[in-house]
Amino acid sequence: MQIPSLLAYFRAAIVLTLLPSTATSFPHQEPRPFHWLEARDSEQLPTRQAPLPSLVIDTFQDSLHNDLGFWHGAGENLTVHHEPGFMRLSPNDPDQNFHTQFDTRGCFSLLPWKNQFLHVVFDGTDQFTVSLNEHNAECFPSRSPFPGVPDSIQASRYVMRTKPEWFDADESEMDESEMDESEERRPRARSLQFKRPSSMGSCGDDDDDQAPASPTRTELFIPLSHFHINHGRVVSVSFTGFYTNESITLRRVEIVPSTPPPTSKNNHFKIPEKLPSGHMILRCSVPNSFAFGIDDGQPQYAQEVMKILDEEDVRVTFFVVGAGLRDQTTNFTHFYREMLKKGHQVALHSNTHPKMEALPTTEKIDEEIMQTIRVFQDRLDLTSRYFRPPFGTVGARMRQRLAKHIESPFIVNWSVDVEDWLWANTSTPEKQLDAFYRGVARGGNLAVMHFLNPTTVAYLRRFIRHVKSVGFKIMRIDQCLGDPFSPAL
Ligand SMILES: *[C@@H]1O[C@H](CO)[C@@H](O)[C@H](O)[C@H]1NC(C)=O
Ligand SMILES: *[C@@H]1O[C@H](CO)[C@@H](O)[C@H](O)[C@H]1NC(C)=O
Ligand SMILES: *[C@@H]1O[C@H](CO)[C@@H](O)[C@H](O)[C@H]1NC(C)=O
Ligand SMILES: *[C@@H]1O[C@H](CO)[C@@H](O)[C@H](O)[C@H]1NC(C)=O
Ligand SMILES: *[C@@H]1O[C@H](CO)[C@@H](O)[C@H](O)[C@H]1NC(C)=O
Ligand SMILES: [Zn+2]
Repeated sequence: MQIPSLLAYFRAAIVLTLLPSTATSFPHQEPRPFHWLEARDSEQLPTRQAPLPSLVIDTFQDSLHNDLGFWHGAGENLTVHHEPGFMRLSPNDPDQNFHTQFDTRGCFSLLPWKNQFLHVVFDGTDQFTVSLNEHNAECFPSRSPFPGVPDSIQASRYVMRTKPEWFDADESEMDESEMDESEERRPRARSLQFKRPSSMGSCGDDDDDQAPASPTRTELFIPLSHFHINHGRVVSVSFTGFYTNESITLRRVEIVPSTPPPTSKNNHFKIPEKLPSGHMILRCSVPNSFAFGIDDGQPQYAQEVMKILDEEDVRVTFFVVGAGLRDQTTNFTHFYREMLKKGHQVALHSNTHPKMEALPTTEKIDEEIMQTIRVFQDRLDLTSRYFRPPFGTVGARMRQRLAKHIESPFIVNWSVDVEDWLWANTSTPEKQLDAFYRGVARGGNLAVMHFLNPTTVAYLRRFIRHVKSVGFKIMRIDQCLGDPFSPAL
């Protein structure tokens, strides 16, 4: 039995913590402070054309607000430590996250910067995901889902480490490259870039509170175009998907027009190619549609679920764990074969239900994916492009490996949570109904639930009738996304 952990499902808590800030400036309408690249260029090269716009998002001067005046903070009980100039994250779970927001009150357009680079200066481990998060359709935090769709980048692939020696040793090399037209601006940038506030590393009272600058400068340069989201409607940059318990000290998050040239000191840093990361799905897109994604179940409730769906004449999507199909005692192979015959969708949910992004190696992630693909073929004679991550845990490596094995996969979270994991086995099981109604009222149209508990199964009919009564048409997830390969309605 897979009971989702509280930790994994506490996403709702973030929604509550992403409260509007009191700041009122709308960043791109205000005169922006010059970024150092611009300042340097306009100072020294006055004949140059107007520089490309840059955007300093966060230098961690304040514990609650970033440099744009909007909220930054942690979700899922991520332990953070702030001092002016840095924010140290001490993760122990891949669902934990730290967001820094563009505009708490609405959507923010990154289109003017679309061809530039997200630049993050940090110390510590690079075993995490950087997400650029699209806002929801209403640009309103209390609508569901919030945040909207992210794309996920594996930090370790984009990290540039610069050895400190170059600063002293390579002045001449820099002068040479200055002769090269195309490199002209960069060496200047680099010499400034390497200067750090002298207070850095000496602001704490005891050693544990200090964040000494590491001898090697560690930074990320990620083309904004590598984030496949709607850049016209973003809400935040976030750090999540930790597959380590080592800390990360964030020092600067900004958008810059160019990357430093490759040299031996930065190990000839080159931007890697974008790896496919699948389609992240939180909502149905067909107008007026609604879908139930039903995960892990207890065999003894399976026939009851079938009966309710038959009687209500609706088709749903089941996300099925491979190991459960392989286990003859569950009868799941027979059950899901019958559900397929009745027109339901049956889709992937990993082999053994781990938090996939927490797995230490890509080989282990691959094994989860390949095993479940195989058992689907063997037992159900079925292939599927639809996958629900166990516990909703999403990270860049998991997405990339999935997209390696399955062409253009759909990675399906949800925008309505029945919260059976929280209420089903308590003295107030009716809170599952409240949670469901609330999710629908907030605009959610893709639900998550399980059949692990008799109270949840008993409410299924009421969930369905509620959705029908507000005028939605219930269909499978592939149908509610308008997938041309899905059966006709
Ligand atoms: C976060 O920590 C608080 C206090 O320790 C605890 O009550 C709560 O259950 C935790 N939440 C999660 C998601 O772990
Ligand atoms: C990180 O810490 C958590 C909780 O203490 C533990 O369950 C997990 O195994 C640790 N992960 C790693 C990669 O050490
Ligand atoms: C196993 O599932 C099949 C298909 O739903 C069903 O007809 C059969 O009664 C089930 N067997 C048991 C022992 O539950
Ligand atoms: C998916 O759902 C889980 C659980 O609510 C949440 O922690 C995670 O952030 C969600 N991921 C996305 C990409 O929405
Ligand atoms: C419900 O809770 C009881 C007591 O807390 C526990 O013994 C039982 O295993 C739980 N059942 C389920 C289905 O989680
Ligand atoms: Zn599950």
